[in-house]
Amino acid sequence: MEKYPGKKNIAVLLSGRGSNLKSLINYSKKKNSFFEIKLVISNNINAGGLAIANKSKIKNYYVKYSTKRNFENQSLKLIKKHKIDLICLAGFMKILSRNFIKKFSKTILNIHPSLLPKYKGLNTHIRVIKNKEKYSGATVHIVNEKLDAGKIIIQERIKILKSYKEKTLEKKILKIEHKIYPKAITKLLIND
Ligand code: GRF
Repeated sequence: MEKYPGKKNIAVLLSGRGSNLKSLINYSKKKNSFFEIKLVISNNINAGGLAIANKSKIKNYYVKYSTKRNFENQSLKLIKKHKIDLICLAGFMKILSRNFIKKFSKTILNIHPSLLPKYKGLNTHIRVIKNKEKYSGATVHIVNEKLDAGKIIIQERIKILKSYKEKTLEKKILKIEHKIYPKAITKLLIND
């Protein structure tokens, strides 16, 4: 029996560059992928991710963050309209409310550039280097109402060499992110 007659619809929420979006789009085009990126929403009108979505002919919207409530209500309308099965945060710089998470009711994933539960929040690489950590990496986790705190789906680490600066680490970890995000989504959909 075929478990997935069709691909699952994903919405990506982002605030910036959109390199993770790009990698998800590329992966989704593979014949055996379980998902399709149907919708991109950004709170930042200048987000590179919106341009990437445009180029790939994916429905994309700038939703003004006048208040959390307005942004979330408008986004939820779009998410409903596009029959979204899974939301992926990819560089989305706002914290979703408990109300949003409850109303969507399906899974929301996030990618974070550290080995969670270590180094939640911003500026992870610089803090990691300052603390002379031996390893860092990236984590895909389920979103709950606490910052970077939900159940971990996939995590991958790299060894930090003495020569690494913040930018080196960012570049190396971004590469990992692009690899593990589609993997984590697939893992989740298969076990659904
Ligand atoms: C990534 O490092 C992601 O882990 C973090 O924000 C960054 C977004 O990068 N949450 P991009 O916009 O996907 O290029």
